[in-house]
Amino acid sequence: MSQSSQAGTIAEINRLRADNQAIILAHNYQNDEIQDLADFVGDSLALSQIAATTEAKLIIFCGVHFMAESAAILAPEKKVILPDETAGCPMAEMASAEEVLKWRDLYPHAAVVSYVNSTAAVKAVSDYCCTSANAVKLVQNIPEQEIIFLPDQNLGRYVALQLPDKLVHIWPGYCITHHRVTPENVRQAKQYQPDALVLVHPECRQEVAEMADFIGSTSQIINYVKKSLVQKFIIGTEMGILHSLQKENPQKFFYLLNPGLVCPNMKLTTIPKVLAALQNLKPEISVAPEIRLKAKTALDRMIKFV
Ligand code: 13P
Ligand code: SF4
Repeated sequence: MSQSSQAGTIAEINRLRADNQAIILAHNYQNDEIQDLADFVGDSLALSQIAATTEAKLIIFCGVHFMAESAAILAPEKKVILPDETAGCPMAEMASAEEVLKWRDLYPHAAVVSYVNSTAAVKAVSDYCCTSANAVKLVQNIPEQEIIFLPDQNLGRYVALQLPDKLVHIWPGYCITHHRVTPENVRQAKQYQPDALVLVHPECRQEVAEMADFIGSTSQIINYVKKSLVQKFIIGTEMGILHSLQKENPQKFFYLLNPGLVCPNMKLTTIPKVLAALQNLKPEISVAPEIRLKAKTALDRMIKFV
């Protein structure tokens, strides 16, 4: 798209956003121009909290399906639109409600804690949801000692290691993007940039997380960099985060831990698709009432744990 036609499209988006009392939410992994357009850019936890509390009538959710679905569950009176409805999260598809119920039978005393990267049907058979920003705190504070954690094995293992008093049964799911980062990537990056700190998302493998200086959600990584006096950072999460990092810290240097840290689904949202979403008020994301009510209990618990 040429610069002048992009400017025209953005002007039209702004007009429709105001006319529809809409809010545009963007995840930290979205394309740079989507982040610049959004009313709010954040991690999964912050975006869910905003969706639940915003006064806006219409939410244009620039992220992936489970995020828009969580917004629809938390805010049933609002219309939630995902500009590209094919934007999914492969990890969320690695657990089904039927399989979760089988694990419940296997471990009848365990509470089911689902990472927010899961389907509404899975949330509906879960006791709690969490994000990477509050997983440890939530599991630490719930009364149950025995937990089924799903679907991310890496976040599950990270939680279990922090909380040795809890018995955690870990689901074997993973994020295809974060799972490809290897300890060799960390060794090489440190060799090239020995003064840099290594910051990774807990979706990375345990061997990678063990070599990091900091492990956190996308917004926790952004906050860590903001407060740090260090100048160079090796980033172990999806490349979209580099936009906020560079914008907020123009004097600092950032290096991606692995060039494959790209989530193709997050990149499906484009400016023309956001415009089409506002013009057509679709594709709308909605959840069947019987699933929605059960999933909301688990999600309500998640957004309270900060
Ligand atoms: P955050 O909750 O850290 O934003 O991460 C979401 C996600 O999908 C990570 O891959
Ligand atoms: Fe899902 Fe991984 Fe993409 Fe996050 S980065 S949305 S976990 S596929």
